[in-house]
Formats: sequence, C-alpha cells, structure tokens
Amino acid sequence: MKNILVTGGAGFIGSNFINHILEERDDYFIINLDKLTYAGNLENLKPSEKNKNYTFVNGDICNSELVNYLFEKHKIKYVINFAAESHVDRSILGSEIFYRTNVVGTSVLLDTARKFEVEKFLQVSTDEVYGSLGKEGLFTENNSLSPNSPYSSSKAAADLAALSFHHTYGLPVVVTRCSNNYGPFQFPEKLIPLMIINSLNDKKLPVYGDGMNVRDWIYVIDHNIAINTVFEKGRVGEVYNIGASNEMPNIEIIKLVLKHLEKPEDLIQFVKDRPGHDRRYAIDSSKIQSELGWKPEFSFEEAINKTIDWYVRNKDWWSKIISGEYLKYYEKQYKM
Ligand code: NAD
Ligand code: DAU
Repeated sequence: MKNILVTGGAGFIGSNFINHILEERDDYFIINLDKLTYAGNLENLKPSEKNKNYTFVNGDICNSELVNYLFEKHKIKYVINFAAESHVDRSILGSEIFYRTNVVGTSVLLDTARKFEVEKFLQVSTDEVYGSLGKEGLFTENNSLSPNSPYSSSKAAADLAALSFHHTYGLPVVVTRCSNNYGPFQFPEKLIPLMIINSLNDKKLPVYGDGMNVRDWIYVIDHNIAINTVFEKGRVGEVYNIGASNEMPNIEIIKLVLKHLEKPEDLIQFVKDRPGHDRRYAIDSSKIQSELGWKPEFSFEEAINKTIDWYVRNKDWWSKIISGEYLKYYEKQYKM
C-alpha cells in the first residue's frame, strides 16, 4: 500500500484526481489535507468519502506541527502537492496569501518530507511560471522561468524550492507544469465555468482586453492521468510539461459556450484588461510523451461539451457557490 499525502484535494484538480485514482487503484491510501478555503469543497469528493483507502484532514499546509503529525501518524512516504491559491485575478487584488500558502506552505511540506525520507514528492506547478509567449513557439522544460503575476511568481518560487531540495538534499522531487485545465468541479471564478454559468443566468460575459489572449486547454482527467504517470515513472529531479496542444483565443471559447447553450452573442461584454495579462501560453509536451508514454485521451470537442453539460446538470453545486463569498469577490473584481 502506498500512503500518499495529497494536499489541496478538495479543490478542482485535486478532487478530480482523488475520485479518479481511487477508482483505478486499490494500492493507494490517500490522506487529503485541505484547508477548505473558498475554493475547497467537500461535495466534490462524494464519490470517495466512503472509500476505505481515503481519509480527509481539514488543515493548513503551513502548519508545520500538523504536517509533522500527519507524516508520523500515517507513515507517509509520498506527497502530491496540489494545495495553492490558484486564481491570477485574486493574486492581483491581494498577494500575501499567495506567498504564504504557495511558498511557505510548500517549504513546510518539503522540510517535513525530507525529515521523513519520502520516496517521491510531486510538486504540481504550472506553465505560467514560463511567462508569456509571442505569436510563435512553445514552452519547453528548458525555457527560463519568467513569471509575471503574483500568482505565477509564487508558483515559480515553490517549483524552484522543490527542485532545490532535490539538488541540495537528494529529496526525490518531480515537478509538473501543466496548461489551463477545464472540467467538472472547477470554481466559477475561472474563464470556462464563469462563462457557462453567466450564460445560463443570461448575465454579461466579461472578456478582458480584446479577447485574443491564447490559452492551451487540457481536460482535467488528462492532466490527472499525466500526474499519476509522472508520480509513478518520472525521473527524480526532472520537470515534465503537460498539455494537450489545444491553443485557443479566449473569445473563441466564449462563442463556443454561447453556441452550445443557444444563447446570443450580445451577452459578450469587453471589459478592462487584466493588469500584466500574459498574451499566450502553449505547451510542448513531447518529453512526457516520449519518455513516459503519456498522451492526452480526450479531444477538446468531446470534453468541452461534456463539461458544459456537467454545469447544466449540476446547478445545485454552483448555485450554492455563487451566492456566498463569491458574490462579494465578483462585485469587487468586475465592479458590478
Ligand atoms: P483550486 O483553487 O480549485 O483548489 C485549491 C485547493 O487548495 C482548495 O481545495 C483549497 O482549499 C486548498 N488550499 C488552499 N490553501 C491551502 C492551504 N494553505 N493548506 C491546505 N489546503 C489549501 O485550484 P486547482 O485549479 O485545483 O489547482 C490545483 C493545483 O494545480 C494548484 O497548485 C495550481 O497552481 C495547479 N495548476 C492549476 C491549473 C488550472 O488550470 N487550474 C493548471 C496548472 C496547474
Ligand atoms: O496556465 C495554467 C493556469 O491557468 C493555472 O496555473 C491557474 O491556476 C489557472 O487559474 C489558469 O490561469 P489563467 O489566468 O490562464 O486562467 P483564467 O481562467 O483566470 O483566465 C483564462 C483566460 O481568460 C485569461 O486570458 C484571462 C481571461 N479571462 C478570465 C476571466 C476570469 C477573461 O477574459 N475574463 C474573465 O472574467
């Protein structure tokens, strides 16, 4: 049995990871440590909550005493660190919690992992650490890091801290840098769920700048299969880019959502651009494909339709969210 500390497992990607992997594997015991911030939601984990190979702990990765206690109690030998403050716009409104959770929290996990001699530490990083691309080219693992937002700079610090623990202490670290995810249980502050939910509610769709910023989209299950592949087979000390070669300007995705939901394009509203808005991200994932044999399984067309339909069917899930703390954030961010 592999005792794995999964942090941030009540968020979008972490909960999809836990639900998926517990279906696939009976040799993983997962201890999910999550602070349940605004983005953490135990409802995401309904499929796993009764699984005998799963336990939940409500707590902060910055709490060194708690983290030490959990390593000792559960004889943890593996860590997958999803926990983070993850939204760029919120990091622009206030950065402190980003540096605290993403940098200090990761350093607490690294120190404890070193003390307990873990066998693998997977740091879930992001392609945003590379900065922004021009019209041509792709991010490879050899690109220099050039993060532009408080969020991405905090993720770059955590990513480099993890690699430094490998270099200095020989901690068996692997780092993944993935592109933009979409799928079920994504918090409505992010582009795709925000546009789906606003369309369903006949609310304006706020498009930053000219809508021509490009993101490279991957279905969350493909990301999670890649994470497990790197977790099992990735060479320690290495970085693996993850992406599905699906670049799209934001405005195209928004029009696609409107078309699928049969809503009019005049819901689109161009608004003030995000400060420091990265123009284009695009991932070269040839390293994980050739070295570890991973490749994306879902086509964009199939998975985006599945995702939109999931939000249509799961109004109960998102309507609770958009009426709470999110409403205050929305009014502040979009000045409505
Ligand atoms: P999310 O915001 O949906 O979830 C984050 C989770 O972390 C929440 O459950 C939250 O409660 C928890 N958390 C926050 N602070 C914590 C703390 N101090 N201690 C314990 N738990 C804490 O984020 P997500 O979109 O699921 O992203 C997960 C990870 O993947 C992040 O590290 C993010 O940087 C990375 N990533 C995300 C994307 C994407 O497109 N969403 C792409 C690449 C990488
Ligand atoms: O690339 C990986 C990153 O993708 C992850 O590391 C981050 O955690 C994740 O949040 C995501 O960051 P982005 O900033 O790319 O995602 P977001 O959904 O916030 O925005 C996607 C694009 O849509 C971006 O160009 C900004 C634009 N946008 C976003 C919002 C919320 C709008 O035009 N209007 C909006 O209201």
